[in-house]
Amino acid sequence: MKMSVFGTGFAGQTIAEKLFQLGHSVMVGTRDIESLLKKDQKDYIGRPPFKEWHAANKGIELGNYKEAAAFGEMIINATNGAGTIEAFESAGEENLNNKVVLDISNPLDFSKGMPPSFFVCNTDSLGETLQRTFPKMKVVKSLNTVNAYVMVNPGLLSEDTNIFISGNDPSAKEEVKNLLMSFGWKEKYLIDLGDISTARGTEQLVAVWVRLMGALNTPMFNFKIVKGNLPQ
Ligand SMILES: NC(=O)c1ccc[n+]([C@@H]2O[C@H](COP(=O)([O-])OP(=O)(O)OC[C@H]3O[C@@H](n4cnc5c(N)ncnc54)[C@H](OP(=O)(O)O)[C@@H]3O)[C@@H](O)[C@H]2O)c1
Repeated sequence: MKMSVFGTGFAGQTIAEKLFQLGHSVMVGTRDIESLLKKDQKDYIGRPPFKEWHAANKGIELGNYKEAAAFGEMIINATNGAGTIEAFESAGEENLNNKVVLDISNPLDFSKGMPPSFFVCNTDSLGETLQRTFPKMKVVKSLNTVNAYVMVNPGLLSEDTNIFISGNDPSAKEEVKNLLMSFGWKEKYLIDLGDISTARGTEQLVAVWVRLMGALNTPMFNFKIVKGNLPQ
């Protein structure tokens, strides 16, 4: 399948690589190709500049958001939450309409340092904002509650764990479920929370996630939901 990944950071690179390994045709989208390929700095987690990853992954195409949107049959949104709406606006509605968008982004505001706060929360979410702004896209929020390595390789954790899914369109959610299963997620651990407004819950779960990362001293963990019976 032709897949577009919006975002060239750690999450975008990790997902693009996995999709390519699985045999998909992949194009990664960015704001400005020229300046991205000129960058010499490491990223915020100390990974080498994008151009090194690009050189090592020759089969993965690079385009601006418009080109990437036109390329993909499905789009994965791995942009910084603060730039998500702008990135999709620059992609052009004609390239987005009717497409399934797997939205892994989080509306995190790092302007006051760590831990981040949310620039949209409580009665709204970034997933809903994206769906509202582009009503003809089929936005499915998922994977935003795990580290990118875990997103594409849940077997890195010592047990099966859960992933949440939020979206308005049932067939789009089925397509995303199938993609997640191709990444290694088991069907019975995928929890469909309901429509896109349920993304309020999973985006805000990231407030717990960042504190767990501090307490556990690793980003390699996930939530596991355990059910029980009411007492008689
Ligand atoms: N990293 C993870 O393990 C992880 C886990 C769960 C969820 N997420 C979510 O996935 C998304 C991507 O995370 P990330 O860690 O890969 O890196 P990031 O630094 O949050 O995002 C980097 C990407 O966002 C793009 N972007 C577009 N508009 C932007 C703007 N106005 N300001 C800043 N960046 C903009 C950048 O584009 P250019 O290429 O044009 O610079 C770059 O490709 C985030 O929403 C994050 O919350 C990440």
